[in-house]
Amino acid sequence: MTDDFTQADLPGWLRCNDPNKLEKLWELADRERERRVGNWVHLRGLVEISNHCIRSCHYCGINTANSALKRYRMQHDEILACARQAVDFGYGTLVMQAGEDPDLDAQWVADLIRAIKRLTPLAVTLSLGERTPAELKLWRANGADRYLLRFETSDRELYTSIHPPRNNQTVSDRIALLRIIQSLGYETGSGIMVGIPGQTCQSVVRDLLLFHELDLDMVGIGPYLAHPASRITRNGCPDADIEQVPATEQMTCIVIALTRLMCPEANIPSTSALATINSTQGHSHGLTRGANVCMPCLTPVQYRGLYEIYPDKAGSKTTPGGSHRTVLETLATLNRPPGLGPGNRSRT
Ligand code: 5AD
Repeated sequence: MTDDFTQADLPGWLRCNDPNKLEKLWELADRERERRVGNWVHLRGLVEISNHCIRSCHYCGINTANSALKRYRMQHDEILACARQAVDFGYGTLVMQAGEDPDLDAQWVADLIRAIKRLTPLAVTLSLGERTPAELKLWRANGADRYLLRFETSDRELYTSIHPPRNNQTVSDRIALLRIIQSLGYETGSGIMVGIPGQTCQSVVRDLLLFHELDLDMVGIGPYLAHPASRITRNGCPDADIEQVPATEQMTCIVIALTRLMCPEANIPSTSALATINSTQGHSHGLTRGANVCMPCLTPVQYRGLYEIYPDKAGSKTTPGGSHRTVLETLATLNRPPGLGPGNRSRT
């Protein structure tokens, strides 16, 4: 923590609406970002390898109940082509993300990781949902470097209300699973959505304390964006009985900035959800308010529109080349260089 910030300030900043004071927060976070992780912006090529999902999370557009959605699962060679594209674009990491899809067979994924590691110098990040410790162990043994699993909210009651368990099982415990992921030697990422209906400032304070307690290597934060094909079809209601956290760009940036102050060495992406809520400046606001990572989408054009976890996702109609150019333009405007190498979590 810096001299100008302590944990006791968290509730005050989360409730702050004064533009002059917020400028001070952006400056604090940006200064801390520069001091701890430098000016580089690490680029992670994102490939959404399957939109099949067996879960019915109440906020997510690719939940299993969305029968109108055409489902896809990419082939091994298609994914390898994306990995080569990432290398050609100069990225240091490939992130493979999917819904929770048991037909992404554990051994098939392991073989894919091994092929990517053999053919490219890329770090490999997985974001494949809640998988078993044995599967996570197998993937780590085959070369996976990092795993992303957002806990979404540390408020157990809210978590339970939006995450129905798998058949005949109890509600999952993502925080326990994150500790297992850490114990397997993965660089470990988590995060939350900002403005889930029912989310309070108090619970976001606890989320921020938990990021710190878990000593996360990566923290992803985006605004909640209501999807018409999910159970929750609107944003948090301001006149509800609780102090609802708004699902706004400003609130998302406050949480990103506070995350930088709570976890100064973490890799923090400027997320696509932030670029969706503000299509012109979302990405650059994230990068100047604490973030140091971008995840340009390399998913082939024929699939990217189908990975609709929320509506009108930024970049859903462009090509990998288009996403690449957009990110480079943003970095040039900010005078921030793309990172070289895998961009591991820094430890100072
Ligand atoms: N709005 C914003 N973010 C969402 N995610 C899923 N659905 C939505 C939505 N409707 C986020 C979750 C998940 C990540 C991959 O995408 O935080 O962990």
